[in-house]
Amino acid sequence: MTFDNFTYKGVKFSQEIHSEKQLSYLENEFKVFDDDVYCVTFPKSGTHWMGEILNLIKNKGDPTECNTVLSMQRSPWFECITGLPDVENLARPRIISSHLPCHVFAKSVFESKAKVLYTIRNPKDVFVSRFHFNKMLKIYKDERGFQDSLNDFLQGNIMFGSWFDHVKGWLQMTKHENFFYITYEELQQDLRGSVVRICKFLGKELNDEEIDSVVKHSTFDTMKENKMCNGDVTQAHILDKSKGTLMRKGISGDWKNHLTVAQSEYFDKVYQEKMKDVNVKFSWEEN
Ligand code: A3P
Repeated sequence: MTFDNFTYKGVKFSQEIHSEKQLSYLENEFKVFDDDVYCVTFPKSGTHWMGEILNLIKNKGDPTECNTVLSMQRSPWFECITGLPDVENLARPRIISSHLPCHVFAKSVFESKAKVLYTIRNPKDVFVSRFHFNKMLKIYKDERGFQDSLNDFLQGNIMFGSWFDHVKGWLQMTKHENFFYITYEELQQDLRGSVVRICKFLGKELNDEEIDSVVKHSTFDTMKENKMCNGDVTQAHILDKSKGTLMRKGISGDWKNHLTVAQSEYFDKVYQEKMKDVNVKFSWEEN
């Protein structure tokens, strides 16, 4: 897919959404606060889901803020030209979303007590989710076919670069006690247990009733109906809502409905090669 892009430290960004000046500012000068919480993902890995969970935890399960304030204002993307002013105006403690790879992230985060949560999803599902979502994104000037999109994804020739590099880069942070990672699949298999783990990482003590409320308000069905996070109310110049929806299926394994056996095998081959030095075993590697 073609889009007006520029490359920053080996990674492709959109000229319409990002700027080199802002990326450099974020990397080198952005002021991180110790009570900041960063919701980091490769796009289409469950950013909105984790953002909703973090906002609900912050509010001890009270959904009022999530039901009345747009998710992109509650937890803006700081690398977006339109997101940074919102971040600078956020009341503390701030929840900040980002798709930035680790090597271009705000350096000072690793010297602070700010917490970073990284959500990882089966890359085959990331690819499929992305394939559908890109049709909605107006920054793309053409529609690329499925096979070409797959090649772009596996070669990392896309916005935010290679999924493999993104994941490997962030996994190197596991030695930091303020870094936590979880998979989309874990959230899906055991949302309540995942919320409890996230609370523990954040040092938040919620009672059973408050945790139940976080879970209730962060299910796919609830979020799909919530106009404050389902993408219905968003800048029309970015998303063409006639072409799809942000809350598309919300399942694991949808790739099986899209990839041929040959495409899946090719994907596995690239995956095994790129991930051979990674010690973490993910649930999707068993299938
Ligand atoms: P699908 O396109 O596979 O349905 P992101 O927020 O990073 O853009 O990711 C979007 C993906 O997360 C979409 O995947 C969306 O449906 C899914 N998603 C969002 N909220 C979810 C929830 N509460 N439970 C499960 N999946 C969710």
